[in-house]
Amino acid sequence: MSSIAVVPGSFDPVTLGHLDVIRRAAAIFDQVHVLVVHNPGKNAMLPISERMNLLQQAIDEDPEIPSNVIVASWSVGLLVDYCTEVGATVLVKGLRSQIDVAYETPMVLMNRSLAGVETVFLLPEPGHAHVSSSLVRQVASLGGDVSDYVPPVVAKYLDSTRPA
Ligand code: PNS
Repeated sequence: MSSIAVVPGSFDPVTLGHLDVIRRAAAIFDQVHVLVVHNPGKNAMLPISERMNLLQQAIDEDPEIPSNVIVASWSVGLLVDYCTEVGATVLVKGLRSQIDVAYETPMVLMNRSLAGVETVFLLPEPGHAHVSSSLVRQVASLGGDVSDYVPPVVAKYLDSTRPA
């Protein structure tokens, strides 16, 4: 039986830290679904369609990400409902710090309790430890250079949407 994992997130926008985790997940599982999920606790900068677009292009342009990775979205219902629909038994999350552990722990237990879906944590390169979508949005909106933190397609997109 093939192993299917879901890497969920807001990806608003996708960062180099996300790509690092996706790459590692793709080397472990037979199929990886990178799932753009609406997070009700956050005010998104980009519509889901644009986040998916940027993710797909970033994945296509990364020679180290194999073809067992697909991009999808889920905006209605529970994350575990998507897992059930596609036969995924594992969620994969990246961990940058103890703060991430505290944030993720209740979700791990809830997803396991709701549907028996387990969560696996992967550590990205420590060089990405300070990189988050929210800081990227903040730095970009204040005119800073984010090209060290996001894939080239995202840096270009953020540049093109900056007010003149
Ligand atoms: O990138 P983010 O915003 O940290 O990702 C958080 C996300 C989207 C993974 C989280 O908000 C989530 O799991 N949302 C799905 C909603 C859900 O199923 N909730 C109940 C179980 S925790």
